[in-house]
Amino acid sequence: MKQINTLLEGNYRCHPAFNLALPSWNAPTEKLAAFNDIYAAAQELGVTLDTSSRQDIRQDLEQLLSDIFRTFEAQTDDAYETRFLLELKNACLRLIGEELVWYARQPRTRFVSLSDKQIRQDAIRLQQNRHYFGCLPAPAVAEMRKLAESALAQCRANAAAGRLRREDLSINAGPTVRAIRNVLNREFKALGVLDAVSAYTGCKIRVTGLALELSVPQATWWKNTIANLERPPRTLYAHLDETISCPKAIVYLSDVTEQNGPTSCYPGAYEAMQLNPLQEIIGRIVGTVGSQSDSPLKEYYAKQYHQSVNSENFRRHFMRLPACLRFNSHMGWDVMPDSELESTLMADEIKMTGPAGTFITFDGARLLHRGGLMQEGERVALQVIFSNSTFTERAVNKLKRML
Ligand SMILES: [Fe+2]
Repeated sequence: MKQINTLLEGNYRCHPAFNLALPSWNAPTEKLAAFNDIYAAAQELGVTLDTSSRQDIRQDLEQLLSDIFRTFEAQTDDAYETRFLLELKNACLRLIGEELVWYARQPRTRFVSLSDKQIRQDAIRLQQNRHYFGCLPAPAVAEMRKLAESALAQCRANAAAGRLRREDLSINAGPTVRAIRNVLNREFKALGVLDAVSAYTGCKIRVTGLALELSVPQATWWKNTIANLERPPRTLYAHLDETISCPKAIVYLSDVTEQNGPTSCYPGAYEAMQLNPLQEIIGRIVGTVGSQSDSPLKEYYAKQYHQSVNSENFRRHFMRLPACLRFNSHMGWDVMPDSELESTLMADEIKMTGPAGTFITFDGARLLHRGGLMQEGERVALQVIFSNSTFTERAVNKLKRML
């Protein structure tokens, strides 16, 4: 994919819903460059540094971030903008803490076997393309469908009664989920998926999180778009996930065609955006600003679903960020219809269609993706999260100690 960083910057400058004729805040260039240099070094050197060096780096980054945000605060026009910056800074600090712990993880040596040629190729594809496709054997799919039967019947009843919230159409805990997770771990082990993902992350991983989801055409949250556009962008809901430490998989338990919500991805788009470190951190969490029920921005933004850019007040704040820090990880909704950015992304979109059992394994934080955009029929899928539970427990404990 050709570089799209300039297209992305131009998109916000030219998009009628984002171009609100507001001056953006001036960025303290030197502090920003220092933050980005140190962060890039922490990504590279994390595992080699001793504890005190890591703490020093974290303190330097926090100090620089505070300085950068103080510069913006001095340029705010009202209390809402100040609150936007406060929530954004706190979310950045949280994410920086999580990511630094991840970059400092100590990979265990010699625990992955890639002696099987197919597994080796899958691992290479995951490394190079951030994803690869596969298919589970039919008996395993039948076993999981059987396990899912009664939960799916409840989800279908909810849909028929007009209950279409995510929690009405999915389950992510309880004995059914645990049973399906066991089957999936067994099958993914046999197919070498666990080894391929372990090689990618440098940690011994397994399926730890799983949601069984029913998608139906009545659920139209993904169609919500910015008001007054002639047509919505063709990239609706294309996004990057927030967490860098948990690769994912989507597994179909029903046949999926172009019409019933195929998962799709845009290989190379993340790399082509050429985001700087702080821009990327901001983009991953800017959508959480004003989402907490006790936030004074909650009512001010009045967001629909989790789609922040639907709110003009949110867009105002977003556009006050300097262009070099402006990024929204759920950028698919922001793309201007008929723009070069839209056509560039669409040209490289890969849709995963196929029979039940078809799956994609991917790094959702670094592969632009979307799915579940239903036209007709229904889709039954598993949203799967891989992680090293030991690592997660250690990371949480460490964060608690640091805080
Ligand atoms: Fe996602």
